[in-house]
Amino acid sequence: MAGTIKGLTTDQLEEIGCQIILGNTYHLALRPTSELIDELGGLHKFMNWPRALLTDSGGFQMVSLLHLADITEKGVTFQASCFLTQSPVDGKPMLLTPEESIQIQNRIGADIIMALDDVVKTTITGPRIEEAMYRTLRWIDRCIAAHKRPHDQNLFGIVQGGLDPVLRDICVRGLVDRNLPGYVHSIYAIGGLAGGEDKDSFWRVVAQCTATLPEDKPRYVMGVGYPLDIVVCSALGADMYDCVYPTRTARFGTALVPEGVLKLKHRAMAEDTRPIDPTCACMVCKNYTRAYIHSLVTKDAMGSQLLSFHNLYYMMQVCMQLFAENGNLFLPATDLSKI
Ligand code: GUN
Ligand code: ZN
Repeated sequence: MAGTIKGLTTDQLEEIGCQIILGNTYHLALRPTSELIDELGGLHKFMNWPRALLTDSGGFQMVSLLHLADITEKGVTFQASCFLTQSPVDGKPMLLTPEESIQIQNRIGADIIMALDDVVKTTITGPRIEEAMYRTLRWIDRCIAAHKRPHDQNLFGIVQGGLDPVLRDICVRGLVDRNLPGYVHSIYAIGGLAGGEDKDSFWRVVAQCTATLPEDKPRYVMGVGYPLDIVVCSALGADMYDCVYPTRTARFGTALVPEGVLKLKHRAMAEDTRPIDPTCACMVCKNYTRAYIHSLVTKDAMGSQLLSFHNLYYMMQVCMQLFAENGNLFLPATDLSKI
């Protein structure tokens, strides 16, 4: 069901040191619905998570997962032919407006909610990038106006603008100018990245945004990332990330280790009595061998559960080390969407 890091209990997530979890408005709105979550006391209570929660606004997931989205000034709409996007109540195609995204996120009740943004792939060029950036700024005003819980939910704005430094700069300024105390708590997200562009272009945009956004406020690079990207972006001043990578790659039988990755499905693991990573202090590395995990992987859910635990523990260690070395404002998020 929605509202979980697949295969892990919230006690385990606390044990690993997770401080914040990301959920998706789009997934939660479809199932179990924001109305039900609200009725049952909000997402923290519903999923038994006492620490911080963040919800993404929904449009990005609709566009990236379904490829059937139609974006207009009104919001993000879906073609009626796609059953997934039809409201389960009345069967009509779903239209997600900035107001609606905020209303749903107000009901879900996360500590941080994201403004609806117009995201385009960084690999496209032309006027659509500029249109999306200006629309993202217009939509943030609609999100601010629709936000009914500024006293207990922080609304984050998202910088768009593709790979164009001039557009990114206009968007950064636009967001900084909208710093309304009590509404947008001066926390900034950098969006539209890790969508197929080369690393050099990606890191350049992060470097530009972190250099121009206020450095005493968290800067959040959305949808990132791989350990290398987190190390590089943190050196560039970013503080916060979300990514399915640690748990998704676990389900494919891959462990994250200091040398890179370890493929537990490989024949060579069948009789290997060492832990995944002899230098790791996690519960899995303390108790289980590579041979045992090899025997489970892709055959039993326990295989991906143990690997997910280790991978999240590994990423938390990486983040804590970066915090110690760079002094980044430490707020890693773990993505519980698409699971
Ligand atoms: N997740 C990854 N990238 C993005 C983005 O650009 N916008 C939103 N809303 N979510 C994201
Ligand atoms: Zn481990």
